[in-house]
Amino acid sequence: MYKRFVRPILFRISCERIHDLTVKALRLAGLVPGGRALLGALYAHRSPRLEKEVFGMRFANPVGLAAGFDKNAECFRQLGALGFGFVEVGTVTPRAQSGNPKPRLFRLPQDRGLVNRMGLNNYGMEAVARNLRKPHRGLIVGVNISKNSLTPNENAPADYLKVFRRLYQWADYFVVNVSCPNVAQMTALQNRQSIADILVQLLEFRRGQNNYRPILLKISPDLTSEQVDDMIEVVVSHSLDGIVATNTAVSREGLTTPAATVARIGNGGMSGAPLTARSLETVRYISDKTQGRIPIIASGGIMTPEDARNMLDAGADLVQVYSGMIYEGPSIVKRICRYLKHVDATTPTMD
Ligand SMILES: Cc1cc2nc3c(=O)[nH]c(=O)nc-3n(C[C@H](O)[C@H](O)[C@H](O)COP(=O)(O)O)c2cc1C
Repeated sequence: MYKRFVRPILFRISCERIHDLTVKALRLAGLVPGGRALLGALYAHRSPRLEKEVFGMRFANPVGLAAGFDKNAECFRQLGALGFGFVEVGTVTPRAQSGNPKPRLFRLPQDRGLVNRMGLNNYGMEAVARNLRKPHRGLIVGVNISKNSLTPNENAPADYLKVFRRLYQWADYFVVNVSCPNVAQMTALQNRQSIADILVQLLEFRRGQNNYRPILLKISPDLTSEQVDDMIEVVVSHSLDGIVATNTAVSREGLTTPAATVARIGNGGMSGAPLTARSLETVRYISDKTQGRIPIIASGGIMTPEDARNMLDAGADLVQVYSGMIYEGPSIVKRICRYLKHVDATTPTMD
């Protein structure tokens, strides 16, 4: 239904406009009595067999929505009603920022991919704090945090700390985003020392709190194996709670879209099907290297239930989708959940 009737209409309109309209529609659904219940009845697939415990938290199912869709925590409860076991809001920065000039979000339909250079547009931590106050029993809400684009890298730790402190009581877990390719110099933070400088402050603040909030690191798919090793080392040495692998890619490898079209789109992070193999490889690498000791959230090119299963088989504990929902529609969550339940039920256990 979505692919045959809805998607052809949506794909005629600019990608960002559709995104904004979808967020508005979801907000509206949250205001109508019974709106969330209706979304749940239409889309969610609930089963105790899908529940999973990861970094000390009980997830209703292992399928989450990746960061960047609900940047301002405007509709996370409706997204939960669609069946996601967890929703990662953000990226949130201390002050509001408008991001890069439009157009900044593009489809690559032939490759089932997207390219975005949004530039971490968001309303800032105060607005997000107000939105996050809404109760969300049964839904885990992560907050992805970063620095303002105009903050120089040497002052980055203070920015991360501001958002972390302000939103600490409202988030279930945090993701430190140093891998956005759309903010000048941000990925230069992806080295051991810069990340350690950020983490030390967050960990110190957390030590003084009564409630424990897991902290994860989100990494880029463009890293070399040596750089991934460095990221693993940072995570292990600071006893972080996990890794999100991966963000969008600068690389344009594996595209069938004509090179001239790709060149016309210009810079940005690539997501969707062209990223599947690379993200899977990164997840497998981290899991093998750490013998499965670090919880991994797989993100990148999960477009089908089989993609989700492959990520879990490669060592991921949870999966996130974004581009998959744009191409397959909101029923992708239900389809993945059903498939995982079925495959788990039919896979013989090895005693
Ligand atoms: C339009 C768009 C905006 C995004 N914004 C963010 C963001 O603000 N923070 C972040 O960590 N990742 C962001 N991402 C990356 C996604 O969270 C995800 O890691 C990436 O798209 C790979 O997953 P996918 O192939 O399922 O889309 C964004 C992705 C897209 C397509």
